[in-house]
Amino acid sequence: MKPIQVGLLGIGTVGSGTYNVLTRNQEEIQRRAGRGIEVTMVADLDTERARQVVGPQVKVVADAREVIANPDIDVVVELIGGYGVAKTLVLEAIAAGKHVVTANKALLAVHGSEIFKAADDKGVIVAFEAAVAGGIPIIKALREGLTANRIQWIAGIINGTTNFILSEMRERGLDFDVVLKEAQRLGYAEADPTFDIEGVDAAHKATLMSAIAFGIPVQFDKAYVEGITKLAATDIKYAEQLGYRIKLLGITKRREGEGVELRVHPTLVPAKRLIANVEGPMNAVVVNGDAVGTTLYYGKGAGSEPTASAVIADLVDVTRLATSEAHHRVPHLAFRQGQMHDMGV
Ligand code: HSE
Repeated sequence: MKPIQVGLLGIGTVGSGTYNVLTRNQEEIQRRAGRGIEVTMVADLDTERARQVVGPQVKVVADAREVIANPDIDVVVELIGGYGVAKTLVLEAIAAGKHVVTANKALLAVHGSEIFKAADDKGVIVAFEAAVAGGIPIIKALREGLTANRIQWIAGIINGTTNFILSEMRERGLDFDVVLKEAQRLGYAEADPTFDIEGVDAAHKATLMSAIAFGIPVQFDKAYVEGITKLAATDIKYAEQLGYRIKLLGITKRREGEGVELRVHPTLVPAKRLIANVEGPMNAVVVNGDAVGTTLYYGKGAGSEPTASAVIADLVDVTRLATSEAHHRVPHLAFRQGQMHDMGV
């Protein structure tokens, strides 16, 4: 079967990670997807940088619309970010009948209802595993693994930058500004770091988890959002003396008869709790479901290859769903004869 053809819009940190992981693990990814996945076109304003990342077989263009207009492209991966041009391009890709994979939490948290409706009307998929908690497959956990459950609540550290800042302030006694600069240098922070430190990025992600968990429209405007800028080193020190850590949590909760609560704010967490010990730029999400009880997901919430891992998981899903053979659509039933490898055990 002809490989599925992918066009990347943007080849910065996540785009280059996606290209590199797809190339490195090509054989395994193809086996799992039941079909090859090939990046055949890349759009980036910095065409020189793009050419340094991809091989000569990939067409590099400056204009994203060339990718969308190409009838051979099956899936468009939007890695531009923001609400402006990214929204227009995603809607144009959907209108052109392309499946869309995006890591853009801001776009979906604010304009998700319009985008998902457009995709439904057109019969295409908009997948966004990479938009929440980077490499942690939390969207799949909520949508698939926990699908039998009535979700009661979710609480998570879903912004690595602020968790890094709070950790460094506590462990090394460093000032907020110094650690923020370090987070930017390490590539954790958003282009506009106020989204991180004011809790907006975490609220975008909590909004998406809330919509999936509770089957409600995305409603970022209803969230209570408070960041970490008002916290002083002394707050962190006193919390520690009382047996607590301060964590910026995204919380969404079912309130019987009253709807759904959605909030982001610094929270005192007893130091003995697992989530209190999540340090550095890491993410962790705790989900409580009526059947499963409490479950915990931990990992890297940002960075080139962790986020690429989630983008590619979506590409594999889209590939499976776009294939006509039913057995290709079901993950992990692909152990057909001739595919077993002798592991020497
Ligand atoms: N700025 C985000 C964070 C990047 O710090 O978690 C990943 O969404």
